[in-house]
Amino acid sequence: MTTEWTPTTWRDRPIRQVPEYPDREKLDGVLSTLRTFPPLVFAGETQRLRASLADVAAGKAFLLQGGDCAESFAEFSADNIRDTVKVLLQMAVVLTFGAALPVVKIGRLAGQFAKPRSAPTEVIDGVELPSYRGDIINGMDFDPASRIPDPKRLLRVYNQSAATLNLVRAFATGGLANLEDVHRWTLSFVEKSPEGEKFEQIAGRIEECLAFMRACGVTPESVAQLRETDVYTSHEALLLDYEETLTRRDTITDDRGWYNTAAHMVWIGDRTRNLDGAHVEYFKGIHNPIGLKCGPSLDPDELLKLIDALNPENDPGRLTLIARFGSDKVRDGLPPLVRAVEREGRHVVWSCDPMHGNTVKSSTGYKTRPFDRILAEVRSFFEVHEEEGTYAGGVHFEMTGRDVTECIGGATGVTEAALSDRYHTHCDPRLNAAQSLELAFLVGEMLVRRRGGVGAQPLKAAS
Ligand code: TRP
Ligand code: MN
Repeated sequence: MTTEWTPTTWRDRPIRQVPEYPDREKLDGVLSTLRTFPPLVFAGETQRLRASLADVAAGKAFLLQGGDCAESFAEFSADNIRDTVKVLLQMAVVLTFGAALPVVKIGRLAGQFAKPRSAPTEVIDGVELPSYRGDIINGMDFDPASRIPDPKRLLRVYNQSAATLNLVRAFATGGLANLEDVHRWTLSFVEKSPEGEKFEQIAGRIEECLAFMRACGVTPESVAQLRETDVYTSHEALLLDYEETLTRRDTITDDRGWYNTAAHMVWIGDRTRNLDGAHVEYFKGIHNPIGLKCGPSLDPDELLKLIDALNPENDPGRLTLIARFGSDKVRDGLPPLVRAVEREGRHVVWSCDPMHGNTVKSSTGYKTRPFDRILAEVRSFFEVHEEEGTYAGGVHFEMTGRDVTECIGGATGVTEAALSDRYHTHCDPRLNAAQSLELAFLVGEMLVRRRGGVGAQPLKAAS
């Protein structure tokens, strides 16, 4: 006998990566307050994303997911949100151009605040304190007070997420995303770089197309698709106390099911995907499209069991498998998973996270990621899918619109010595705006080649 799923059934399962709140009563008070707050997203939008992801699974669209490793209270500003959205739009345009397919845009934002940690405590100069677990839980400063989990942070996360989402929606539908404004998305510090110049070429071609279409009577004023886009939100649903409060029954569409209304898409991390655990239990019951991070420790049988548990109806838009192997492990590690999924006829989106398996410590002590390794993992990911006859459906990046120096390499050449210049991340190193755009161009070229587009193969002489 199985008991019926509810948003609280996860509480009876073993859970990993939970903070110890010293004041449980205070936490319960905050959770009650959160239950009275409005949802951040609606079931209808979430269903639309699920349908778009089904197109990705079928090879008719491509997925771009990106944003901060961890959002923070300190980096919260209109300019940061605007700049991240601008870079996402630029990347999306480059990929749309390359793939000649719609690109589904999902931000890692408006709720990406909780971080799984490899150890519960951290030792610096002989002092041991609880690890920083993201701004939703405790503070990053290395002092005892700031590392105590504070329930009030959940309310701040809700508010910051609501404000962020509001601005993202305004940018997506209120003018910024208009294709006629494509030139205005380039950030000033990227303008003079090789990527900036390359982007101008694509922008110029889009402008030409739009001028031609305007002459034909098709304009952004008359056709909403030219002036608007959808930018969906996503985060790792790690702190289930928070996620539960925003899990609501849909009262508007015919579905009437339970939805996580804190984001359109949520994913399960590589550290919390145990089959009998609390996180998998929670994810079973929500109707959102969901992601599952797949790393080197996941064996094919385990993956199939997880797919059975999370997507029993084999719905093509429900489950995105986000592979995060590392450039040196993906060639051997990914094919067995892809084959198992193919053999069993399971419909999934395959996406590539080339960030998390490629983190290294620089000689100067910074956590960094070499651009070349990130690129190498994406290339191998595409090669594996080509060899297996499956569809490489998308990419998942940790990135920012800011001009940070956190990942080394790329055309603008961030060096190890330069990491200290503008290293701002609250968790893992992110691609900066120029590196993000450069990667989009390189992935765009892979997409052109895959569809056999112009320049992909030597042109044959007409016979
Ligand atoms: N509506 C289309 C889309 O979202 C075209 C589009 C409008 C677009 N603005 C965009 C594409 C900005 C990428 C970026 O795909
Ligand atoms: Mn990360």
